[in-house]
Amino acid sequence: MIKQSVVKKGVITVAGLGTRFLPATKAMPKEMLPVLDKPVVQYIVEEMIGSGITEIIFVTSSQKSPIENHFDRSLRFEEYLKKIGKYQQLEPLVELLKKARFFYTRQSEPLGNGHALLCAKGFVGDEPFAFSDGDSIIDAKTPVIGQLIQVFNEVQAPVIGVQKIKDKKEMIKYGNVYAEKLKVHKVYKVIKFVEKPLIDKVSPEGLIVGGMRYIFTKEIWEALENLKPGRGGEIWVADAANALAQKSPFYAFEYEGKYFDTGDKVALLKTTIHFAKKEGLL
Ligand code: UTP
Repeated sequence: MIKQSVVKKGVITVAGLGTRFLPATKAMPKEMLPVLDKPVVQYIVEEMIGSGITEIIFVTSSQKSPIENHFDRSLRFEEYLKKIGKYQQLEPLVELLKKARFFYTRQSEPLGNGHALLCAKGFVGDEPFAFSDGDSIIDAKTPVIGQLIQVFNEVQAPVIGVQKIKDKKEMIKYGNVYAEKLKVHKVYKVIKFVEKPLIDKVSPEGLIVGGMRYIFTKEIWEALENLKPGRGGEIWVADAANALAQKSPFYAFEYEGKYFDTGDKVALLKTTIHFAKKEGLL
């Protein structure tokens, strides 16, 4: 019997300052920078909705109102586009918006992605939920969050999406996941998470966190609340996940798909080139 998914809520943190793109991000959120004709964060929303998420909460900050406007209908604009024969360019977004409800809460100070996630606690409550950062795109046939939900439905414990890579010089740029391989295909039990380890200490399994995609249970809230500030004096999701993995089962799933970063200039350019080639534009 197929188990019914109970993961219906998703959190996307978009409250960071985006300093690596200044001055472009002075008045425009970095999550709204386009990859071709879609803002980065729309790819993530599409992934969530394609995974069965029906309520999405953005953790925003004062600079981020363009995100709220993007994920809302604009009826007069829609009418006008219909009149001039250009509605088809907006239609996919309008149809997407009909499939979910969007909520917003603020992180008043950029104290780290973990601190931002904790701002969503009141909205999410005790339900299991999906979490994504706001600046990574995963190009996959089946939306990655949906792949993780399938694993979650089996294990009923937190799950993180991971990628396997061989090049140790690449591995040290990412969070590494040390984990024990299980009998179930591509599923691991997490031993610990280490952010950007030394080259001789990388994960022996070659597992990295490329693009933050998690399914969390309510236990993450306590882990975040009990966390002392880590790297750079900030509260990090990875540190809370690590604390959780020391106490109770935490799984990693090697998802099908390829991760693309958009957090700095070169990464955004490479990501854009990938999607341009995919669409036959280059
Ligand atoms: P980053 O650390 O890559 O982004 O956060 P940043 O701080 O916005 O960028 P730079 O380094 O200044 O250029 C990854 C994701 O987590 C969110 C960001 O908005 C981004 O989507 N984030 C980060 C928060 O919501 N709050 C924070 O305090 C930090």
